[in-house]
Amino acid sequence: MKFFVDTADTNDIKELAATGLLDGVTTNPSLIMKSGRPMKEVIAEICELVDGPVSAEVVATDAEGMLKEAEELIAIADNICIKLPLTLEGLKACRVLANKGVQTNVTLCFSANQALLAAKAGATFISPFIGRLDDINVEGLDLIAEIRQIYDNYGFGTEILAASIRTANHVKDCALIGADVATIPPATLKGLVKHPLTDKGLEAFMKDWAATGQSIV
Ligand code: G3P
Repeated sequence: MKFFVDTADTNDIKELAATGLLDGVTTNPSLIMKSGRPMKEVIAEICELVDGPVSAEVVATDAEGMLKEAEELIAIADNICIKLPLTLEGLKACRVLANKGVQTNVTLCFSANQALLAAKAGATFISPFIGRLDDINVEGLDLIAEIRQIYDNYGFGTEILAASIRTANHVKDCALIGADVATIPPATLKGLVKHPLTDKGLEAFMKDWAATGQSIV
């Protein structure tokens, strides 16, 4: 499973990239707003920090406008992935970009049929939003399982990028279902390593080691 971080905060991205565990980055207009920085500047910086796909989202609502914005964004770096909304206009733009070999991430997916359309439009990634479905009492993970089955039924190459992840259990459950990628907020991603028994065990080992009076180097 690939791990993307869902943020436009370059300090968090730097820290996570240094672990060697980061496969890409996703951003959206809300995350750009939160960064307080000009979009193109922050996206360019992120593209230098990671080798993998960096999703940059268009904001036009018609295919022509989306494609114009995509041209601007693609010029920033080779690892740009154009993020498009799951609308008919977004799917039209997705097909054009896919035919040109541009990576695409179709976002705001809330149904299996929407995911089927994105795969048919040649999307590189489909982003089903788990947490926002959970928020309205619909089981977000069921959507991941449905998309997995449909894509496997037909051999679609579109990767399932589980988004709107809120908890460590979301990550584990997406991995069990077989999502290809999870895009995770920085704090949740850093939290995956934590277990109280790891901390307790390490503390005991350190204490016993100190009692031996030895050193390895
Ligand atoms: O990047 C899209 C998605 O991950 C947003 O998550 O928490 O705003 O629903 P959230």
